[in-house]
Amino acid sequence: MSRFRLPDFPWDSLADHTAKARAHPDGIVDLSVGTPVDPVPPAIRDALASVSDIPGYPMTHGTPELREVAVEALRRRHGVVGIDPAAVLPTIGSKELVAWLPMLLGAGPGELVVIPELAYPTYEVGALLAGAQVLRSDGLTALGPQKPAMIWLNSPSNPTGRVLGIEHLRKVVRWAQDRGTVVVSDECYLALGWDAEPLSILHPDVHGGRLDGLLAVHSLSKSANLASYRAGFVTGDPALVRELLAVRKHAGMIVPRPVQEAMTVALADDELLAEQRDRYAARRTVLRKALQDSGFRIDHSEAGLYLWATRDEDAAATVGWFAERGILVAPGTFYGPKGGQHVRVALTATDERVNAAAERLAA
Ligand SMILES: Cc1ncc(COP(=O)(O)O)c(C=O)c1O
Repeated sequence: MSRFRLPDFPWDSLADHTAKARAHPDGIVDLSVGTPVDPVPPAIRDALASVSDIPGYPMTHGTPELREVAVEALRRRHGVVGIDPAAVLPTIGSKELVAWLPMLLGAGPGELVVIPELAYPTYEVGALLAGAQVLRSDGLTALGPQKPAMIWLNSPSNPTGRVLGIEHLRKVVRWAQDRGTVVVSDECYLALGWDAEPLSILHPDVHGGRLDGLLAVHSLSKSANLASYRAGFVTGDPALVRELLAVRKHAGMIVPRPVQEAMTVALADDELLAEQRDRYAARRTVLRKALQDSGFRIDHSEAGLYLWATRDEDAAATVGWFAERGILVAPGTFYGPKGGQHVRVALTATDERVNAAAERLAA
């Protein structure tokens, strides 16, 4: 580990607060991680089982059906057109891709990877694994004349729920394409817009028909409750995807065949997605009100799976306050130095646990 200078795994530092929250007589309400809790839809489980007797190796590129269905889902759900199914590449969940992408694309020492000010920690980890430099920035001005190897976007954001507008996306894309910088847009929460409609970087209104240097990373973990299956895909610039495919074939980064089948069914079914969205929307309404009624301000949070809450006090104090009530939340500092006064409250708990949290906050 030390060779890579990786940070400590942030959740390990919550052990004391976890123990305190667990001691609550009615049990812990864990809102600290975004792990799905609702059932895997039976149609998806059936799809998984239906090909469990295939003994041979699966294709790294995925089945042709999976690639077609992913392209169609992007079109129906997000208005993304002009993607060649050959430019879809399944991934073993999206975290592994996030962690290895700079390395897989050949970024290395002396090169720069730009990540959001407040970001999913794995973007930084990926840059460190490749030996590249990391810069936290939400704007282009801070970059001056530099030509980063890669810029990460994440809209809707984890942790803030912020949605980037079309002008912002266009500006980043144009700037990056002028410099040969790769823009990677992590779109794992794209289907979870509440007060704003998130836009894919692959939407033609954003790139005007030029896909060069653009990649979008998608995950089925949250949209289809498939976190345990490890199911995601990356798509965009056909040349970049070809490069990734070539390396991943050599490296054995292959999505298991049964999971490919499960993904195919999940991506074809918008009703399952709508049902899951409704569950999260209802939990969001309950938690948002409970937080506001107990004196929190919710910043951003117009989309995605989290509420970004603050009482303008130190995040550690807020985490402690929640733990006293048997509720575990994540301090904003997990996501970057600018998160020092916020906590991230996940919508991923059962209705029963979400209601328990609301009652405790009201008490
Ligand atoms: C922003 C972001 N990207 C990627 C991931 C990884 O998700 P998965 O590996 O389950 O696809 C997560 C998980 O929480 C996330 O929040």
